[in-house]
Amino acid sequence: MIKNICCIGAGYVGGPTMAVIALKNPHIKVTIVDINAERINAWNNKDISQLPVYEPGLAEIIQKTRGKNLFFSTEIDKAIDEAEMIFISVNTPTKTYGKGKGMASDLKYIELCARNIAEVAKTDKIVVEKSTLPVRTAETIKSILHNTGNRINFQILSNPEFLAEGTAVEDLLNPDRVLIGGENQAAIETLSNIYSSWVPKDRILETNLWSSELSKLTANAFLAQRISSINAISELCEATGADVNQVAKAIGMDSRIGNKFLKASVGFGGSCFQKDILNLVYIAKSFGLEKTADYWQQVIIMNDHQKRRFSDKLIQTLYNTVSGKKITLFGWAFKKDTNDTRESAAIYVADHLLNEQARLSVYDPKVSASKIQADLNYLNTRSEDETAKLVKFIRDPYEASYDSHAIAILTEWDEFKTYDWKSIYKNMKKPAFIFDGRNILNKAELEAIGFEYYAIGQ
Ligand code: NAD
Ligand code: UDX
Repeated sequence: MIKNICCIGAGYVGGPTMAVIALKNPHIKVTIVDINAERINAWNNKDISQLPVYEPGLAEIIQKTRGKNLFFSTEIDKAIDEAEMIFISVNTPTKTYGKGKGMASDLKYIELCARNIAEVAKTDKIVVEKSTLPVRTAETIKSILHNTGNRINFQILSNPEFLAEGTAVEDLLNPDRVLIGGENQAAIETLSNIYSSWVPKDRILETNLWSSELSKLTANAFLAQRISSINAISELCEATGADVNQVAKAIGMDSRIGNKFLKASVGFGGSCFQKDILNLVYIAKSFGLEKTADYWQQVIIMNDHQKRRFSDKLIQTLYNTVSGKKITLFGWAFKKDTNDTRESAAIYVADHLLNEQARLSVYDPKVSASKIQADLNYLNTRSEDETAKLVKFIRDPYEASYDSHAIAILTEWDEFKTYDWKSIYKNMKKPAFIFDGRNILNKAELEAIGFEYYAIGQ
């Protein structure tokens, strides 16, 4: 019987996942630890609106569980020592150095966790991989735990997380499936029992370790591939007069294809898709599977093309120059209902427009000014001073769009649909352009107001 769970990594996955486990298992004490003290402080903030992760419904769950059976702490060793089960939920970004740079997953944080557990543990532990990992990582973790541990029994499980940001709480409360990969049946059942507090048993799937690890990479690759496929068709629609929304609807009604994940867009973003496909490509290459690697690489190539194509279309439509022109970007997050901006298409569109000397005015309901500057500065394309001079974050969408030549919609926030577009039009330079990178606005209505409206694949 598990009484204490420790989760290493208080991020977008660790926070929401453990909050739901704590909510549904009031008899288990769940402690989430992180080396980032600022993040832990934010999770402990009395002002519940200031949590480091914004997800609909999350604050309510934290309010119910925090201080009762859910704790956030920087005392990593203590939490490891107390726990019978330890989730590793740290980041596994793409390597930025050395062998596999730009492709392979950087597993240094995973290894540090394994070493930390090996050093501290005095009693048997079940170690659960929650992070997304290259297939066969469990072998590495096992080797570290068994060779440096204090002769303690470690069981390793793979339990990848399938939540999507913006719907994390809903996804966790009603998962399509929970996947548990492992070699030891007793350990698998122990974890399965925790989930079965709220997930029907027939949705808890058991596999071997390697299938579980590979299924996570495969799921993300398939999802991203659907977006690149529809985006490829969107370009063909623009060339032929077909409408990508109509095509998506027509093919989506085929039950073999299904209607989800067929929204053409300015390109997918987020911390997972690109990183996980690059990793899959790297793994395939490392086994000499060049054709398989090329096949999946194409999903990324198409996505980069879509982001570029969107910015090029904007520049071309604005009479081939945006130099000195004010362009307003509505949305910076990589999708709606999250404050996460990792790999957001907005960053790359903005960078491209800045290369053409545009002046940018950005509005996003959940992203801060400093995050926007940091995202652009991370690209290292221009000096921080220059970025600060050219990119202004404005808290009000009407003010943000005032006197601008064009508006580009880069995130599908619902509020954009209900703006007073007449008054926005009145205050813009004419002709007033809208480039809808999410196909969320009504073309006929906007054209009736007077806008020149461009959407993806129409
Ligand atoms: P994140 O960057 O938001 O959080 C990771 C946290 O781990 C950070 O706060 C970091 O400080 C902490 N950390 C790193 N090394 C540590 C150490 N040695 N000890 C203690 N803390 C440490 O990342 P995330 O988005 O939560 O993703 C975590 C993992 O889950 C990744 O492997 C990711 O691929 C996977 N995943 C993410 C999502 C998603 O939607 N974000 C969904 C499914 C799976
Ligand atoms: C994804 C997976 O969906 C999730 O299962 C996994 O655990 C983590 O990675 P996430 O990146 O949080 O989740 O969001 P997701 O909804 O998948 O969207 C990713 C990107 O694709 C966003 O930029 C989104 O706007 C874009 N997208 C999604 C489209 O452009 N069109 C679509 O039809 C769907």
